[in-house]
Amino acid sequence: MSVLLAIRSWDNAPWIERFRRVLPDRRVLTPDEPHSVDEIRYIACWRHVPGSLARYSATRALFSLGAGVDHLISDRDLPAAPIVRVVDTDLTERMTEWIVLQVLAFHRRARAYRERQAARRWEDDRDQPAAREVRVGVMGLGVLGGDAIDKLKALRFDVAGWSRTPRDIAGVPTFAGEAGLAAFLARTDILVSLLPLTDTTRGILNARLFGMLAQDGRLGGPFLVNAGRGGLQVEKDILAALDSGMLQGAALDVFEAEPLPADSPLWVHPAVVVTPHNSAISDPDTIAGYIATQIRALESGARLRNIIDVATGY
Ligand SMILES: NC(=O)c1ccc[n+]([C@@H]2O[C@H](COP(=O)([O-])OP(=O)(O)OC[C@H]3O[C@@H](n4cnc5c(N)ncnc54)[C@H](OP(=O)(O)O)[C@@H]3O)[C@@H](O)[C@H]2O)c1
Repeated sequence: MSVLLAIRSWDNAPWIERFRRVLPDRRVLTPDEPHSVDEIRYIACWRHVPGSLARYSATRALFSLGAGVDHLISDRDLPAAPIVRVVDTDLTERMTEWIVLQVLAFHRRARAYRERQAARRWEDDRDQPAAREVRVGVMGLGVLGGDAIDKLKALRFDVAGWSRTPRDIAGVPTFAGEAGLAAFLARTDILVSLLPLTDTTRGILNARLFGMLAQDGRLGGPFLVNAGRGGLQVEKDILAALDSGMLQGAALDVFEAEPLPADSPLWVHPAVVVTPHNSAISDPDTIAGYIATQIRALESGARLRNIIDVATGY
């Protein structure tokens, strides 16, 4: 009944310590420690080495340590076990903070005031639209998109949402699928992406889509906020759209290649905000507790929660 922690690109020490604390009755180990393949019942992973998990055929569940599962699904050689993602209030609230921060910064012209301060220029805008006059479009109406919409609505933004299948959210216009995309984009001044990376969403944030955003809004042109995955965005299209004025600004937490290469023009573009994929970090305390609870529930006969659908990829 051992638990394997297969983590790359994060320091695994805090994870091992937390998992051992919340599951004191079993072995928690990393792939480098001596172990038998048959003792592993659960695998918790983040960007494991592709192909390295297939041999653990006694696995009962594969847990992603983050909300996204693209890092797992892209490995075609996994043990035949359900894949469980993180749904965690702490992570959700962190994400909403980041989204609200970026939306407010665009709405309240944070860049313009930073530039004016640097130039010691006292220049006031009397033409400040109210939040209710700014249309925010949220792509992805899942756990994260739903919470972001609640908080943006509380600030009185004019919010709409887009998802794969039709969703009802009280007081929020919603659109679904390819058929609803054009109407959704045509009423969007600030586009917020909280989509998962799947075969159908890869590269969706591209020149064609930017060209469909509202150009008649109170902010003088559309803005992009992406915290979903870097694979959703076409970075050369973002840069071209910023340079042509099709986009006014972009706040990006995720990138086609991570870490963002030092020579990427995104680092220095004045209209781009870069954060290092930390809009919503996975907290070892809460997530180890969540996974331990799931393991105990499964072993006492309950069903796992938050199993992803391999067919849709999220
Ligand atoms: N930057 C970070 O630090 C960070 C942290 C956590 C998560 N994330 C990212 O955020 C993503 C979303 O997380 P979540 O928990 O909100 O996921 P979720 O609950 O699974 O929701 C996903 C939403 O995306 C929609 N969707 C999926 N494919 C679509 C498509 N082809 N067209 C239109 N809509 C589509 C779904 O539509 P339906 O409602 O119709 O199913 C659903 O509304 C994760 O997958 C991860 O990539 C990033």
